[in-house]
Amino acid sequence: MGKIYVFDHPLIQHKVALLRDENTTTKDFRDLAKEIGMLMGYEATRELELKKQTIKTPMCETEVNVLAGEDIAIVPILRAGLGMVDGMLSLVPNAKVGHVGLYRDPETHKPVEYYCKMPQDIDKRKIFIVDPMLATGGSAADAVSLVKEKGGKDITFMCLIAAPEGIKALSEAHPDVDIYIAAKDERLNENAYILPGLGDAGDRLYGTK
Ligand code: PRP
Ligand code: URA
Repeated sequence: MGKIYVFDHPLIQHKVALLRDENTTTKDFRDLAKEIGMLMGYEATRELELKKQTIKTPMCETEVNVLAGEDIAIVPILRAGLGMVDGMLSLVPNAKVGHVGLYRDPETHKPVEYYCKMPQDIDKRKIFIVDPMLATGGSAADAVSLVKEKGGKDITFMCLIAAPEGIKALSEAHPDVDIYIAAKDERLNENAYILPGLGDAGDRLYGTK
């Protein structure tokens, strides 16, 4: 079973509280999603490989640890996942970015695919799929399947808010995938929205309704 990591860092909890508030503006929502994406990315990249390198400081020669150069891909689930990409890219600016386009059918709540484009060497990359919301888990599970169909192997999923139902569905469908969650919520409502949640993440990021 993959790792399920729920953040308890005070900065993340504070920023998630601001995200949830219905009075938070579109601009602030966007800034917060980016900042939380970066804070989560800091932890989610903890296991990146290092290699030894010899350098000269102004004082002497020394051996230091530098990133081994493991290639990374960030894959947002359109459209709300885009809100977490810039925060991740500020940590790993050379990462490539793939996109999976999925929307939830309003009646069935099942994901419908409309776009998928991955870096050509996705099979060799460490992949972070990002989406603010893990509700039923259908979108995340389908996104992981699409990335695997394109050759992706080493996959981590990162979200801001997760319902227990979504965590269960994703970890059962893809037990090899690690899941990083900024906040774990109570449950879904009858429309498969997360409670207490933050509403519709895409609408709040882009000011649509
Ligand atoms: C939202 C969210 C996830 C999905 C989660 O996207 O960003 O992708 O719903 O729900 P699930 O876990 O039940 O599948 P939405 O379909 O609203 O599309 P959008 O990002 O384009 O607004
Ligand atoms: N998608 C959202 O944007 N919010 C939810 O609570 C559930 C799905």
